[in-house]
Amino acid sequence: MKKYNVGVVGATGLVGREMVRMLEKQNFPVANLRLFASQRSRGKTLKFKGKEIVVEQLTPSSFKVSSPGEKPSLQARLDIALFSAGGSISKEYAPLAAQEGVFVIDNSSAWRMDPEVPLVVPEINSHTLSKDKKIIANPNCSTIQMVVVLAPLHRKARIKRIVVSTYQAVSGAGQKAVVELEEQVSAIASGKKVKPMVFPHQIAYNCIPQIDVFLENGYTKEEMKMVNETKKIMEDDSIAITATCVRVPVFRGHSEAVNIETERKITPQEARQILKKIEGVVVVDDISKLKYPLPTKAADNDETFVGRIREDQSISNGLNMWIVSDNLLKGAALNAVQIGEELINRKMLGS
Ligand SMILES: NC(=O)c1ccc[n+]([C@@H]2O[C@H](COP(=O)([O-])OP(=O)(O)OC[C@H]3O[C@@H](n4cnc5c(N)ncnc54)[C@H](OP(=O)(O)O)[C@@H]3O)[C@@H](O)[C@H]2O)c1
Repeated sequence: MKKYNVGVVGATGLVGREMVRMLEKQNFPVANLRLFASQRSRGKTLKFKGKEIVVEQLTPSSFKVSSPGEKPSLQARLDIALFSAGGSISKEYAPLAAQEGVFVIDNSSAWRMDPEVPLVVPEINSHTLSKDKKIIANPNCSTIQMVVVLAPLHRKARIKRIVVSTYQAVSGAGQKAVVELEEQVSAIASGKKVKPMVFPHQIAYNCIPQIDVFLENGYTKEEMKMVNETKKIMEDDSIAITATCVRVPVFRGHSEAVNIETERKITPQEARQILKKIEGVVVVDDISKLKYPLPTKAADNDETFVGRIREDQSISNGLNMWIVSDNLLKGAALNAVQIGEELINRKMLGS
């Protein structure tokens, strides 16, 4: 099997480390792996397939292929780069990589709504990938887990409206956010006052109805990401969507209460049958045994879990459900690696 040179930008971060782990776990055909982060991390090492790989500082020449006559670069020329170092880094460096023929799979929100950039959840819309579109966006974590469950129901019954409320883990805000929750929990336990740094308020023993910044319309950027990205991925602008995104003191695994109104009636039983056949989706729905998805169970799992599927008794064609997935895996690193696999399947990579 042909192997590819792969880069991970933001490799030392929460998502970046999971990307390295997922490349190994998925047995992605890696010839050489190059890891990039900021100057702070230069020289650190991360393990991949039993080998320690030294982290390079990301610079404008990181992806450069030497021109004829120039001294050849000692570093492997990349076929694909998974980016996870924030929007401003993606804005600056993704075009530099793409210019050198590198496929960029970007985890930030920088490129997601660009009409020229495919926004991909492989099991839903991998047909939007194209050899000429070198920058590919990985959707927002909350969006991915919701559309993985809703797309099959949309195909069956056409969703007219989605109302979603999220309960998002602190790891969605990066490594510093995880440390903040840990420190606040132990500070409060020893009677000390806490000073929020990453979040706008104390996150320990609290819920914060704000993720990302507020926009002029009164929604947060995270809420509007869910609205706009869902329409783009499902390729249907007619779906009405409204979202409330809440940060909760959970370390790993986003949860979502989702209400849908459909054109055709779909019973909870039918919805369970449809979803049981979807790869990557697990139905956990047995209230007689108190079984429903939980972030503690979803953490470190690849799948998206759905349960509490029940009729919305306030309208004629409506369902309620509860969707949970690991925000760092299907919500980020795993979906990115799966996009890479799809590029290989479609013979777009390195050919
Ligand atoms: N966490 C999630 O659930 C999730 C889900 C989907 C998407 N995302 C997106 O993924 C991105 C990373 O998230 P994260 O949670 O992994 O954050 P994180 O834990 O804070 O990690 C950030 C990474 O970016 C690197 N970085 C920062 N400044 C850099 C620079 N100037 N040059 C090169 N690298 C730089 C950091 O390197 P150093 O270690 O050297 O500082 C680190 O590797 C964000 O865009 C986020 O919105 C996150």
